[in-house]
Amino acid sequence: MIFNGLRGVGKTVLLNQLADSAREDGWIVAKVEADASGSRMPFRNQVAQSLNVSLRQVQGKGRKSSRVKAALRTFKSFSLKAAPDGTLSVGIEFDADRGRADTGSLQADLTDLALDLGGAAIELDCGVALFIDEMQHLNAEELAAICQTCHEAGQQNMPFFVIGAGLPNLPGVLAGARSYAERLFRYVTIGALSPIEAAAALTRPAEQEGVEWTKEATAMVLDAASGYPYFLQEFGSAAWDTATDSPIDSEDAAEGIRVGKARLDDGFFRSRWERAAPAERDYMTAMAVDGDAHSQSGEVARRLGKLPTQLGPVRARLIAKGLVYAPEHGMIAFTVPGMTAFIARQPNGEPASS
Ligand SMILES: Nc1ncnc2c1ncn2[C@@H]1O[C@H](COP(=O)(O)OP(=O)(O)OP(=O)(O)O)[C@@H](O)[C@H]1O
Ligand SMILES: [Mg+2]
Repeated sequence: MIFNGLRGVGKTVLLNQLADSAREDGWIVAKVEADASGSRMPFRNQVAQSLNVSLRQVQGKGRKSSRVKAALRTFKSFSLKAAPDGTLSVGIEFDADRGRADTGSLQADLTDLALDLGGAAIELDCGVALFIDEMQHLNAEELAAICQTCHEAGQQNMPFFVIGAGLPNLPGVLAGARSYAERLFRYVTIGALSPIEAAAALTRPAEQEGVEWTKEATAMVLDAASGYPYFLQEFGSAAWDTATDSPIDSEDAAEGIRVGKARLDDGFFRSRWERAAPAERDYMTAMAVDGDAHSQSGEVARRLGKLPTQLGPVRARLIAKGLVYAPEHGMIAFTVPGMTAFIARQPNGEPASS
């Protein structure tokens, strides 16, 4: 399953929740996060490190099962390939299975690992789940290996699942790695919360503390946040801090929204703006002409009096910084809602502090 959506819609919260549920049900679980910096561990190492904890528990439960033993031996060779010093297979008491998951090709080895873990899971009456956050940052080889592994595990009816989350370009990135990726995963777009859900996100945590929200106050915050979880969090938190007693009323809400917006401007939006170099800010300012709609890269270049190819590196740096993404070929869009309005609020498109 693949979750995709803009920044701050709750993808990571959802992924963590699912991983916790799977762990509680005794599943074999690994969770890794990719990033654009290139400084992260190789994917193989991340998977090995994360699986290690889960497999040490399995080791205790499935000592007598030959399939569990086989899976632990395959895991050992998979992780020794990642870290020959054995640091990623600490606590796994079985010897590595030479010839299983140790070719050095991620695609071949991940498939071996998934199939053998799947076999162990059948024996243990559970499943295997690999959670991958910020999945759009994995490279083509890693994505292809994941697709191939899921494909193979599906063919062999193994209970092996990949649950990924990333920006809205993730389905396209996966399709680019393997054309059959479209049919391989269930794609779920995470967007704004419905008014009922947004109201619940606001009022339920307060209710647990014995505090109510008036109807008007709830409506005001819902309206200001447009169902966007991160904004609900900021406005709700500020209204909570403002209120001196229950219920939280419309005055508290108005002040909460004011303070919350100022906080977003000073932190959420400004940190993004300041991460960008001057040429990158020019690019975003040219994009902002389109409001919250997606922009055509060619049109953005034209607005700046440049050729699209000249702006390729600027565009690529903005994508690497996570400020913009390419929703489809030739298009460009902001990764957070409201960025356009923030840019419009800057005097001459430039923030006062820089
Ligand atoms: N179900 C929820 N209940 C309460 N708050 C939530 C929920 N989902 C998200 N939030 C709030 O929204 C914020 C953003 O959520 P999260 O970090 O999961 O978003 P994301 O989609 O992973 O964003 P990014 O793309 O930046 O990683 C959280 O810190 C939390 O404040
Ligand atoms: Mg996240």
